[in-house]
Amino acid sequence: MTTQRQAYLKRGYSRIGGWLFPYSARFIDSLLELQLEADVRGSVGEIGVHHGKLFILLALGRRAGEAAFAIDVFGDQHLNRDDSGSGDREIFLNNTRRWLGSDSESLNVLQRSSLDVRPEEILERNGPVRLASIDGGHTEDCVINDLTLVQSVLAPKGVVILDDHFNEFWPEVSSGVARYLLDPGARLRPFAITPNKTYFAAAEDVAFYRRSLRSRNDYYYEKTARLLGSELDIFGTQPWTFSLKARLIKWIKATPFGPYVQALHRRLARGL
Ligand SMILES: C[S@@+](CC[C@H](N)C(=O)[O-])C[C@H]1O[C@@H](n2cnc3c(N)ncnc32)[C@H](O)[C@@H]1O
Repeated sequence: MTTQRQAYLKRGYSRIGGWLFPYSARFIDSLLELQLEADVRGSVGEIGVHHGKLFILLALGRRAGEAAFAIDVFGDQHLNRDDSGSGDREIFLNNTRRWLGSDSESLNVLQRSSLDVRPEEILERNGPVRLASIDGGHTEDCVINDLTLVQSVLAPKGVVILDDHFNEFWPEVSSGVARYLLDPGARLRPFAITPNKTYFAAAEDVAFYRRSLRSRNDYYYEKTARLLGSELDIFGTQPWTFSLKARLIKWIKATPFGPYVQALHRRLARGL
């Protein structure tokens, strides 16, 4: 991991306004590291950057020469149909200058509603995208538009991170995802969930990401579930994942002694 990314995870992102759970920041960091090691190439970017909290982490995960794009309505808040956060271009640019230095000059910042962005505009300036975050408008139309837009610019082995999929305050995000996934033209499939984030990749890349991310994040793995026909892994969403007692019990259960310890525990609980 680069020193600057380490520093940002340690004391940077928590001081920037926005929405990013600590465990999701760590998981996304492991995803960036995996893409670097697996030689997945392309640009990174985000729709809905607000003050740059997640965007800066993505931008710090680039190789030299890889582009980064940021799409946000910023001051044009009349285009923000559902008041999903309020981007601020000045604050965003100040934060990127502070963390990306002179590299911040080369960012491709589009002050526009993503509903008005064409795939060619992204490809012309950034090339194919290997890691994109979607966190702009939270209406059903925006979610379908953004998933479809990113799907059409994704590099081989690219990944898409979606915010608020299961947030009860934003039900249209989940209905937008369902409508996208049920459309025969959808090429992305969900493969992981972390606090407030769902991860998608092309169907043929899902097995690679599930295997590789599981081995890097096994300590925080909670369970496997199905979502509209896709099997996915859930990491770090429950408070007990972080409790030492719960980890110890899980570890004992997984040893060859696990069934005997469980049987003994049941007998003791019955008072026998
Ligand atoms: C929840 S905030 C994003 C938080 C950010 N990802 C972070 O890391 O903290 C949503 C952002 O999307 C922007 N936005 C809302 N509707 C949009 C649209 N149709 N197109 C592009 N950006 C939009 C808002 O201005 C706001 O900055």
